[in-house]
Amino acid sequence: MINPMIKFKSCWDEAKSSLKLKHPSAVCVSTIDEYGFPSGRFVDLKSVDESGFIFCTNLDSQKGRDIQRNPKVGLTFWWEAIGYQVRVNGLASQISSITAEKYWKTRSRNAQITTLSCKQSQPLLSEQDLYNQFEEVKKNIQDTQIPKPENWGGFIVKPMSIEFLTFKESRLHIRELYTPIEDKWQMSLLQP
Ligand SMILES: Cc1cc2nc3c(=O)[nH]c(=O)nc-3n(C[C@H](O)[C@H](O)[C@H](O)COP(=O)(O)O)c2cc1C
Repeated sequence: MINPMIKFKSCWDEAKSSLKLKHPSAVCVSTIDEYGFPSGRFVDLKSVDESGFIFCTNLDSQKGRDIQRNPKVGLTFWWEAIGYQVRVNGLASQISSITAEKYWKTRSRNAQITTLSCKQSQPLLSEQDLYNQFEEVKKNIQDTQIPKPENWGGFIVKPMSIEFLTFKESRLHIRELYTPIEDKWQMSLLQP
């Protein structure tokens, strides 16, 4: 039986090497809000291994608060250039601050300053305020290495099901659903 995590990695590698995809690591993370409504938004997938899928964000953002209330999440990838859709359902848990630090260091200085200058998901009075906040933080930061703020971190999503859809122009898409049964992945096909 093919391990779906290995299959995922090979699809992601293929997507990353495709010149046609500008954001091959973009993934829609769906959470459940406080009123029970689903809420989806794209983030960057940072890494994947046997234990799950990692993305980083502001822990006080809407998605951060949703996950702390309800760890059930969905991940959806669509790589048009290679014709794959991948859906993952799973449970999210926060990664350690030390692991988050490692990802923080890979971010550009501008991205780090943006994070410091924003309260992600909070209301903003005007677009100009956003630029002012950014410039204010930039002006006051002398550090060569900007330290990671406490409320920036990441989540790892442990998969409970993974579905690969191979897109066919004929609409006879091939859908392979992987679910773990007694610690082993089982695959079943679904009608398109
Ligand atoms: C391609 C793409 C990648 C993004 N990557 C991230 C990311 O890695 N982390 C993040 O917090 N927001 C990222 N965003 C912004 C989110 O989509 C979203 O607007 C933000 O995280 C606030 O979401 P929330 O209010 O639902 O928590 C990205 C947006 C796009 C379009």
